Amino acid sequence: MPYFSMNIAQILTYTYFVTAIIAFIFLYRERKHPTVRLGHYRMRIYHVITLFIVGAIFLLANMISGYLEILGLILLIVAFATPHFLFIHRKKIKISALAGLKIAFVADLQLGMSLKKTKWSQKIVDKITAENPDLVLLGGDLIDNEGTDENESAFMAPFGQLVGRFPIYYVMGNHEYGAGRPGVMMFENRAPVLADQMAKLKIPLLKNKLERLKLPNRDICIFGLDDLWGGQINFDELKNWDKTTPLIFLTHNPDGVLHWPTELKKPDLVLTGHTHGGQIHLPGLGPVVSAEIKMHRNFYRGLKYYNNIPIFTTVGAGESAAPIRFGLMPEVAILNIK
Ligand SMILES: [Fe+2]
Repeated sequence: MPYFSMNIAQILTYTYFVTAIIAFIFLYRERKHPTVRLGHYRMRIYHVITLFIVGAIFLLANMISGYLEILGLILLIVAFATPHFLFIHRKKIKISALAGLKIAFVADLQLGMSLKKTKWSQKIVDKITAENPDLVLLGGDLIDNEGTDENESAFMAPFGQLVGRFPIYYVMGNHEYGAGRPGVMMFENRAPVLADQMAKLKIPLLKNKLERLKLPNRDICIFGLDDLWGGQINFDELKNWDKTTPLIFLTHNPDGVLHWPTELKKPDLVLTGHTHGGQIHLPGLGPVVSAEIKMHRNFYRGLKYYNNIPIFTTVGAGESAAPIRFGLMPEVAILNIK
């Protein structure tokens, strides 16, 4: 009898592992090429499958060593705790045409994901206010929009406190349009709902739009691009740029820089997000999760140069797909231009 029950246990264990492998392949293919058949319940189905796979990993770890399982548990707790600590990322950038400018830049809040709602945006607003920047820029993916019925755009309300105190602008990201990837949106388009809310708050949208801004000590131009995946990009308004006023190019997706018209003078600074720095960043390995962009992995976070154009990519203030992060804190970037 004991021999028989051990075999049953083994059969169940192996069946679990095989099912977990099939579930992993399904999840991998779904993330690569999302189909429409999962509809509104897509993220809930993804999460149940992920839990099933995580269970299999822990079972395997336990079979190898109990210590490995404890280590896995600690790493999991760290990954779930990290998203709740908001970090100020200070960066000095040398750009003589913009010297003296202090920019607060935040993107990828993905409000609505897990516990990140009005309190989280208030926390971001308080950090920005305390920094007293010359300019506030929001880089898209402000709402999560991954199959919830909540009005996530309402969570942006605290940002109204910045209006009148600092110049503030925003661009749309792919999540506002329904997440997904080029040509395949996974959820409904909630960009109009966010646009309505932001209009009420009096925060202007830069949708393929050039804005000329008079600051106390200089004029600057900001060009905000529509989202590459969900929107329709257009650079026509740049014909109104005098080319002598320094220009900041705000694009949710780092690939926006690849579309900059070649005949035009280069922007003085590019601000971008979308990548979350990979969201899971392992020492020595770098970003684990692909942001599905054409730009090299080097551009997943921080200050880098592309054809001599300074590009700053924020790792964002929120999370995508699951409320976890590893090796990267949620951030508000404070850019001091020297
Ligand atoms: Fe994005």
